[in-house]
Amino acid sequence: MLADIEAKERAALEALSALTDPNALDAWKSTYLGPQGALREFMQGLKSVSKELKPAVGARLNQCKSALEAAFDERKNNLGEVVKGPAIDVTEPGVALPQGCRHVIARTIEEIVDVFARMGFAIADGPELEDEWHNFNALNIPAGHPARGPADNFYLGGAAAGKLLLRTQTSTVQIRAMESQKPPLKVIAIGRVYRPDTHDATHYSMFHQVEGLCIDRGVSMVDLKTTLVQFAKSFFGPEAEVRMRPSFFPFTEPSAELDMKMRIKGEWKWVELGGCGMVDPNVLSAVGIDPEEWTGFAFGLGIERVAMRRYGITDIRLLFENDARFLRQFA
Ligand code: DAH
Repeated sequence: MLADIEAKERAALEALSALTDPNALDAWKSTYLGPQGALREFMQGLKSVSKELKPAVGARLNQCKSALEAAFDERKNNLGEVVKGPAIDVTEPGVALPQGCRHVIARTIEEIVDVFARMGFAIADGPELEDEWHNFNALNIPAGHPARGPADNFYLGGAAAGKLLLRTQTSTVQIRAMESQKPPLKVIAIGRVYRPDTHDATHYSMFHQVEGLCIDRGVSMVDLKTTLVQFAKSFFGPEAEVRMRPSFFPFTEPSAELDMKMRIKGEWKWVELGGCGMVDPNVLSAVGIDPEEWTGFAFGLGIERVAMRRYGITDIRLLFENDARFLRQFA
């Protein structure tokens, strides 16, 4: 009988270590340790063992029982660890992480730059924090001009220190470009401008402009209009048109308001996009360019306006609230 116990114990331990499915553990336990299990059978067989051998066989059976129980507990722990945590099915498709996209204004800027670059315009740049010279004086906006009032500008540090302000127009970069480069000159500048407007569907205290400046000998209004027509056709499509209405800006003479015909929801409509004109001789003189020798044209367009009309966006605030659900529509 001792040999039978020995053999059964070995078989039980082998079967146990071959188990990989934690659900099969219970079946193993009832086969060997259960009420109708192998060990129980040996216990019952103990009755027919002779008196002399009984203690030894009994002791061996107890030892076998403890060994099997210990082995069972250990195996259960090991297998349990394998299945701890969520099971990973490597054939499942992965969870897609949310993806960002280019902002509609950034994309519009990219397209505008692209069109003007093809027409030979270089990129010029200037600071958003400006002095009065670049934002006003050099642009023929003299001291005392109503556009310089504190209600229309973000001055820094109150009236006494009112020498710096957040630029209200990218026309400041015209001055910076002419101060740093000699004519002929053909640049665009893109950037943010700031005005203390109350936010509503069409006003925001910060927005973007694209500024254009071309200085050369014999530049005329025809060159200005040609440039803007070319831009309109490249940007909006071959049917696009440009219209100029007489207007006034201190830094251009003559000045015009610029309209472009845009396709809005399938229909062509005139949309006001900004200002333009021939650079005022006073502006050229302010930066040391001889107005007798050089002439130039300039224009400044609102980028939000272009984007909003183009995509049918009716509230400018949507552009700056950064709701990904809104912005993703234009990706
Ligand atoms: N700076 C003007 C504005 O912000 C727009 C403008 C008008 C720019 C005429 C120009 C220009 O360059 O020639 O309202």
